[in-house]
Amino acid sequence: MTFAAEVVKDAAVDINVVHTPEGLSAIHRPGCAAAIWQRQPLPSFQSWIDALEPERLPEARVILRLEDMRETVTQICEASGTPDCRERVRLVDDAATLADIFARLTHSAYLRLRFDVVTTNACRKFHIDAVTARLVCTYRGTGTQYGTSTDGAEPRRVFTVPTGAPILLRGTLWLERPRSGLLHRSPPIEGTCETRLALVLDPVLDAAEKEPGAAVARIPGPSLN
Ligand SMILES: [Fe+2]
Repeated sequence: MTFAAEVVKDAAVDINVVHTPEGLSAIHRPGCAAAIWQRQPLPSFQSWIDALEPERLPEARVILRLEDMRETVTQICEASGTPDCRERVRLVDDAATLADIFARLTHSAYLRLRFDVVTTNACRKFHIDAVTARLVCTYRGTGTQYGTSTDGAEPRRVFTVPTGAPILLRGTLWLERPRSGLLHRSPPIEGTCETRLALVLDPVLDAAEKEPGAAVARIPGPSLN
């Protein structure tokens, strides 16, 4: 047996594709590195968000209490100039639903929320995030890319999460071992004129970070999803 084979054997590399929100609890199964909720966005919603001017897409970074999620995302939309319509309500509802699921699965009453509007190759290196767990849902544009690798090399086979399908990933701080052997990156889109919108949720476990009501602000910057 080679050293590389031993490393592979000791890594969590399972990806559970599920078809219900409850199915995301598969992240707690032994050997699971990620869970993807396979779902199809409503065509009317997808058409709406795909047609929005990029500067009207919600963009923010904020730490919030779970119960403030709906109100906060609405404020983010207001601050970003996202038109108030049925589809915006659907976006707010969906983000709140994902936050509820994520908070329960990570036992976190506080969340770090990001809405990233991405037009570059930000975060294109394959990596594992330094968090316990992260949920990423790409509402517009190409989804997160992932592949298994446990020897530090780039994944040989790369897969793309469908647009609108949330992926729940174990991070390096996930308590159980073996560690995750699943790497991911933002898709390379530079030069394609594509604009992505990704919702990113992390648990907030450090009491010092819990600042409910932190400013809702547009903070353009590199995507880290
Ligand atoms: Fe990441």
